[in-house]
Amino acid sequence: MQRTLVLLKPDTVQRRLMGEIISRFENKGLNIIGLKMLQVTPDLAKQHYAEHVEKPFYPSLEAFITAAPIVALAIEGLDVIKVVRDMLGATSGLAAAAGTIRGDYSSSRQMNLVHASDGPEAAKRELELYFDDSEICHYQPVLTPFMH
Ligand code: PPS
Repeated sequence: MQRTLVLLKPDTVQRRLMGEIISRFENKGLNIIGLKMLQVTPDLAKQHYAEHVEKPFYPSLEAFITAAPIVALAIEGLDVIKVVRDMLGATSGLAAAAGTIRGDYSSSRQMNLVHASDGPEAAKRELELYFDDSEICHYQPVLTPFMH
């Protein structure tokens, strides 16, 4: 089992797409093991997007991610980092394939609705940014597509 961090960004909350997007992860058979709504501060934004802070688009990205609440999800499943990234689609909603979350609901590179960790190291770092150990729940779903 692997874990990843997903953020439903301010545009998801403002467009009332939280339920729709969370349903996609549930329908896929992934386990949501942590969930919270929060306001990202400029300081948290800089930690989260540390590798992008010096890029020209960063001021705009920080203004966007701090503009309204987000929802943070800790999700668990087999190969979940890749599975979730595939479900999101390409970074730009314009480029993302139909059938992916961004492909179906976004036409923007910045307002692309969802963030997901891009590898095991990022997942560990990002999960620790948003969740304490005590906020991660442990349970065995009654039915799961991963049970053979
Ligand atoms: S890059 O430039 O390839 O490193 O960027 P990328 O990995 O595609 O995207 C990283 C996050 O930055 C956001 N982004 C942007 N925001 C605003 N304007 C521009 N031009 C822009 N380019 C990238 C993008 O939405 C990514 O956010 P996350 O949360 O990681 O999806």
